[in-house]
Amino acid sequence: MEDTPSVEEKAAITVGLDTWHTVALPALGIRSIEMADGPHGLRQQAEGDGDNLGLGNSVPATCFPPATGLASSWNADLVERIGRALGDECRVAGIDVLLGPGVNIKRSPLCGRNFEYFSEDPLLSGRLGAGWVHGIQSRGVGASVKHFAANNQETARMTVSADVDEATLRELYLPAFEHIVKTEKPRTVMCSYNRINGIPAAEHHWLLTDVLRTEWGFDGAVVSDWGAVEHRAPALAAGTDLEMPGPQRGSVDDVVAAVSSGELAESVLDTTVARLAALAAHRATPLASFDEDAHHDLARDAAAESIVLLRNEGGILPLDPSRPVAVIGEFARTPRYQGAGSSQVVPTRLDNALDAIREIAPTEFAAGGPEAVALAERSETVILFVGLPPEDESEGYDRTHLNLPADQLELIAAVAAANPRTIVVLSNGGVVTLEPWHDSVPAIVEGWLLGQAGGGAMAQLLFGLRDPRGRLAESIPFRLQDTPAFLNFPGANDHVLYGERIFVGYRYYETVGVPVRYPFGHGLSYTTFDYADLLVTRASARLTVTNTGTRPGREVVQAYVSAPDAARPRRELRGFATLDLAPGESRTVEVPLDARSFSKWDDAGWVEIAGDHRVEIGRSSHDIALDGVVGIRGPRRKLLTLDSRMSDFLANPVIGPILRAASAGAMDGGTNLLDMVKSVPLSRLARFPGVGDRLKSLRLLLPVANNRVIHFAASFFRSLFTSRKSKLRPT
Ligand code: GLC
Repeated sequence: MEDTPSVEEKAAITVGLDTWHTVALPALGIRSIEMADGPHGLRQQAEGDGDNLGLGNSVPATCFPPATGLASSWNADLVERIGRALGDECRVAGIDVLLGPGVNIKRSPLCGRNFEYFSEDPLLSGRLGAGWVHGIQSRGVGASVKHFAANNQETARMTVSADVDEATLRELYLPAFEHIVKTEKPRTVMCSYNRINGIPAAEHHWLLTDVLRTEWGFDGAVVSDWGAVEHRAPALAAGTDLEMPGPQRGSVDDVVAAVSSGELAESVLDTTVARLAALAAHRATPLASFDEDAHHDLARDAAAESIVLLRNEGGILPLDPSRPVAVIGEFARTPRYQGAGSSQVVPTRLDNALDAIREIAPTEFAAGGPEAVALAERSETVILFVGLPPEDESEGYDRTHLNLPADQLELIAAVAAANPRTIVVLSNGGVVTLEPWHDSVPAIVEGWLLGQAGGGAMAQLLFGLRDPRGRLAESIPFRLQDTPAFLNFPGANDHVLYGERIFVGYRYYETVGVPVRYPFGHGLSYTTFDYADLLVTRASARLTVTNTGTRPGREVVQAYVSAPDAARPRRELRGFATLDLAPGESRTVEVPLDARSFSKWDDAGWVEIAGDHRVEIGRSSHDIALDGVVGIRGPRRKLLTLDSRMSDFLANPVIGPILRAASAGAMDGGTNLLDMVKSVPLSRLARFPGVGDRLKSLRLLLPVANNRVIHFAASFFRSLFTSRKSKLRPT
């Protein structure tokens, strides 16, 4: 009979052993497991090579494109393949849980850690994050979806409160986590550093238990972000099963004391122990080695799919490999390929674009300065590599502007003036503004951060050995001031107000009509595509796509829905599909839709929005090619009560007409009394002198108004009457 562990022993396993390991509990057969960062590569600190913050050196591993680049592929299958490769590298290293993916929404382009996140859109973030989790867990290694939740800035990240309404959380900041939890059952979820509406995420019972577990059915373990737990017993009670890092003697004592005082039921501790036991019970089959070359090739394929061709005036790209080129800029030789902080990987090898271009075409190089301008002047074509230096963006701090460094802006201006055939290639984790130089160059390639094989992929794309497939997963604004969170980022006094609500990214720009340099979903190909024969239903959008050009290419078909509700975003991404088509090839594609595609979060749940929804097929969130209409009945009308608002009474087909008739002309100047009191509950109106008596008859009508049959009949005849009236209108 196994010993029954003491409260002390049980409490001890809810806190880490050290930076990366958990505590074993042999009495219950619970082994110690090892975790390591991700997400875009394995960052395992070699024995004895760790440091107090767990940020020191690490064992070489494949550095895949960080999420900011990978997201531009819009290819969940590709991300899944990377997840499988990461799983294999973890199996070789003996890692049980890889800490990723990061699926926080890019609320502001200033967030220093945007390089580690996918998108401004929750559907795209969720689909790609799910691919990552599916891939890695298919290899027996656990994932840790992070950072749950509303961790959208680095400024004061351990103390700031994200002050955000529930509808915004439900519609924008939680759906990526929800999709991944419901479809992929991640082994762990990592709770974030920040507070949400004043409550630390680690102690947020509504978030970690009511929503994550009770509503979404999560049955894994919640692990804290490293150092995110302030008070261990309340965090455990809220649903944080494991505090990292360890050891935290005070935390164990805190839990023991809470149990002995009755503040924390021992059953809650036992539930956590059971979750940690289940986590430790998973054990991936060890692997002796992984194929470094194959992983590097996968990293290059991924990098190639992550590159977004933003501008290609006159079809200057792809370049002719038989012609000489000038390559300018240190980033060509010394690539910027990942972000700084806990995700930083020591790559197994590192391509650079300069060497790769030298293998394809006659090449001269200059890093910058007057040699560089002179080279541009005497060259046929220039490829200019610029971007954000490592110190401009990192985990731990946010940016304060969207500009490239001054010296690079000067170099762009000088080189573009010296040679009109200048192609600008960008390396950046967060969005940069392309002003004021955008119109001075014919071609711009957004390379984001592409991982260790990005240099080779970029060279192949520039010379047409690969076709550009990327589409923006984040809008590129003209100016920082145009961004929706501009006035509320990063907040002050440990509070940041999510005042823009769900109007983040293209949801804002398209609704308010703020122009952007390049919209979410934008990306050029070396070929062209035509859309035709759209058929939309509430279950899908089906259409035929044709490659109308002379080169093979990939199209990313984006399905947006525009709801019949002026208070909603102009359109929202509700599905997408990627198609690889040969020249002249046509294919019919079906983008699935579902009830959520036509719904909004309304007080206590998701409700379908009644009316005609426009399903729009876009090449981007701004460039809509086809559209169709889907009629949605909407939720069964709420029964009227005396606490219903006057607006509900007016919308009722039985009572509404009666009220309108009774109040016709009740105010001078055409202002209708009823419109003025639309938002007032009837019971409140009845408290006004004399009004109550006049509303008595309404009470008598309630049963009639709420009778479904009468209600339907009234609606039917009303529609007949109004349609007949329109036919009788004098011609
Ligand atoms: C860091 C990060 C988190 C990472 C963890 C371990 O502070 O916020 O993403 O997994 O600590 O390094």
